Amino acid sequence: MSEVTRLGVLLSGRGSNFLAIAGAIAEGELRGVEIAVVLANREDAGGLAAAREMGVAARCIASRGMERGEHERAMIAALREARVDLVCLAGYMRVLTGEFVGAFPGAILNIHPSLLPSFAGLGVQAAALEYGVKVAGCTVHFVDEAVDHGVIVLQRTVEVQDHDTAETLAARILAEEHMAYPEAIGRVVSGLYGVVGRRYVRL
Ligand code: GRF
Repeated sequence: MSEVTRLGVLLSGRGSNFLAIAGAIAEGELRGVEIAVVLANREDAGGLAAAREMGVAARCIASRGMERGEHERAMIAALREARVDLVCLAGYMRVLTGEFVGAFPGAILNIHPSLLPSFAGLGVQAAALEYGVKVAGCTVHFVDEAVDHGVIVLQRTVEVQDHDTAETLAARILAEEHMAYPEAIGRVVSGLYGVVGRRYVRL
């Protein structure tokens, strides 16, 4: 990685995690990092509009009507064109194929609103509540070819309250996500951590 790590942020929706990362950089809490490009697969993604308003390079490569492989290759090309070192999925609602994962080996992160390996997939805050867990949270992990499966960089927890709904729980988890993602990126770019087995540990 170059001296300044260039991030490519991929999103499909409102983009609050993107804004948290951008905020941490602006506040000097996340050093040695810049957002090289924001890519969305939907033109109506709120995060895309937010990025453009902030003057961050942002592009939509619409996935609708495009064959999966063709769409991925266009995304990979855009990330390479922006000289991205680290890809951060931030509410990017597409499953990546091995071709995409292989294009950025060990350099794709995702944030997921559960304590993996529990509750992979979608609708996970409601699923955690229905299951009756007492502790929920979020996970930042490296992306591999299986969904919500790669090596965990860090997790943050929240206690489930008796009066929680899926919405109140999701909101508290989201607040933790906004701290977890910048912190996780900081760890990854620090060069101080490495993967031992499935464990991401300080070397
Ligand atoms: C977050 O809950 C994230 O964990 C999940 O998708 C949601 C994205 O939210 N992968 P936002 O677009 O960053 O606000």
